[in-house]
Amino acid sequence: MESFLELIRKRRTVRQFRAEEIPENLLLELADLGRLAPSAANLQPLEFIVVSEPEARNRIFPLLRWAAYIHPAGNPKPGQEPRAYIIILVNRAIREKGYEYDVGAAAENIILGALSLGIGSCWLISVDRERVKLNLGIPEGYQVDSVIALGYPAESPVVEEFQGSVKYWKDENGTLHVPKRKASEVIHLNRFGNRI
Ligand SMILES: Cc1cc2nc3c(=O)[nH]c(=O)nc-3n(C[C@H](O)[C@H](O)[C@H](O)COP(=O)(O)O)c2cc1C
Repeated sequence: MESFLELIRKRRTVRQFRAEEIPENLLLELADLGRLAPSAANLQPLEFIVVSEPEARNRIFPLLRWAAYIHPAGNPKPGQEPRAYIIILVNRAIREKGYEYDVGAAAENIILGALSLGIGSCWLISVDRERVKLNLGIPEGYQVDSVIALGYPAESPVVEEFQGSVKYWKDENGTLHVPKRKASEVIHLNRFGNRI
């Protein structure tokens, strides 16, 4: 069993999923982890729609844009589409702006919770928000912020050391490589410039 820290280190965005349904109780549990995330002033402006029904998720899929740097190679292949989505909504009556931090915390709770259950995810902000609203009957007063696509992983992307470009790439075997800036470039100890 991997430690929590190892799990966080190994987390990678997944965009290819196995054709296996995620039990509804697990999806509801993940949305509940979003509910329990840190919230500025504890205002809790976020709500969550769990979409798992095949007909509904087929309507959401064309409204999402995947892996812009390598488009269309990063799109889920036919049969490897997500098995569920959690749509993160903002109740504008509670918070008009400044809710993005709350969204980040809730999304990461959901993503890491999913990971602990062996479920892969992709957090998307390239979303046709108006059509998602129409499709899911979301009323005025609510903003669609982002979408977390979920499914059991059918790919295992790997981290690479940053070599001057942030662009991820796929190799000839279809493995996705994701560059990350070096720790020595972004972590300072006790004072700025004192690199680790
Ligand atoms: C706020 C946010 C929005 C994102 N939106 C998209 C998106 O619209 N489509 C997509 O394919 N990936 C999206 N991603 C995933 C990023 O591309 C991915 O996190 C990045 O390439 C680093 O890979 P990693 O998550 O494996 O570390 C988003 C990530 C974040 C944090």
